[in-house]
Amino acid sequence: MFSIGGLLVFCGLLAQATAQLGALPLPVGLGQALPLAVTPALPSGPTDLAKGLTSGLSNGLLSGGLLGILENLPLLDILKPGGGTSGGLLGGLVGGLLEKVTSVIPGLDNIIDLKVTDPQLLELGLVQSPDGHRLYVTIPLGLKLGVKTPLVGSLLELAVKLNITAELLAVKDKQDRIHLVLGDCTHSPGSLHISLLDGLGSLPIQSLLDSLTGVLNKVLPELVQGKVCPLVNGVLSQLDVTLVHDIVNKLIHGLEFVIKV
Ligand SMILES: *[C@@H]1O[C@H](CO)[C@@H](O)[C@H](O)[C@H]1NC(C)=O
Repeated sequence: MFSIGGLLVFCGLLAQATAQLGALPLPVGLGQALPLAVTPALPSGPTDLAKGLTSGLSNGLLSGGLLGILENLPLLDILKPGGGTSGGLLGGLVGGLLEKVTSVIPGLDNIIDLKVTDPQLLELGLVQSPDGHRLYVTIPLGLKLGVKTPLVGSLLELAVKLNITAELLAVKDKQDRIHLVLGDCTHSPGSLHISLLDGLGSLPIQSLLDSLTGVLNKVLPELVQGKVCPLVNGVLSQLDVTLVHDIVNKLIHGLEFVIKV
C-alpha cells in the first residue's frame, strides 16, 4: 500500500509544508479584529488544541450574532403562503419548494403569528477523520417556536433542535500559505427534532402541528444552514492565529489531536 517512492514524496511535502508553515507570514489584522474571548494560556497539548478550537468557534459564533440570526429567521414569511416567499430573501430553491409544500398542506393559513424565542448554542462536538486530515464540528442549535393560531386560545410552544455539521480542512493558497477552511457544511439528515412543549394535543391542533412539522422539516434546516455556514466561515478567519497554525500543522501531517470519547 505504501510505496517507498510515495513515502519519500510525502515526507518531502511534509518538510516543505513545515518549512512554509514556519515561514508563514501571519495574516495581518483578522486575528485581532474582533475581541474574541481569548483563553489566557496558549493551547499546547492535543486536548488544549481541541478545546481551544471548540471554544474559539463557539465564542466566535456567539459574538458573530448567531443567536440573533436564529431569533430572526423569516419563518412567518415562509409559512404564510404569498407572504413574500418569492421575494429576494429566500428566492429560488426554498421559495419554489415552499409553494409546492404549502399548496398541498392545509391548515397553515391558520397561523397568525410565529415567534422564535430562546435561541441556543449547545456544546460543540469535534471529531477528526480517520486519516487525521479533516475535522468535523457539530454545531447543536436549539430554539423555541411560539405559534399563535385561532385554533387555540393560548400559544403553542414547540422546541426545535438541529445540528449543523461543518467540515474543516487545511488547504494551501496560491502563495503556498496554509489556511484552515470550511469544507462541507450541512445539516445532518433527519437531525431536526421538533417537540410540543406547551398546548394540548387536540385533533385540529394535531393536524396543524403535523403540517407545521412537515414544512419546517423541508425548510428550516436549509434556512439555518444558509445562515450559519457563512458565519462559521467568517469565524474561522478570526480564530487565534497560533491556535490555527498548530491545528493546521496537525491536519497536514494527519496527526490525531482530537481525543475520541
Ligand atoms: C446532535 O448531535 C449530538 C452528537 O454530536 C447528538 O447527541 C444529538 O442528539 C444531535 N441532535 C439532533 C437534534 O440531532
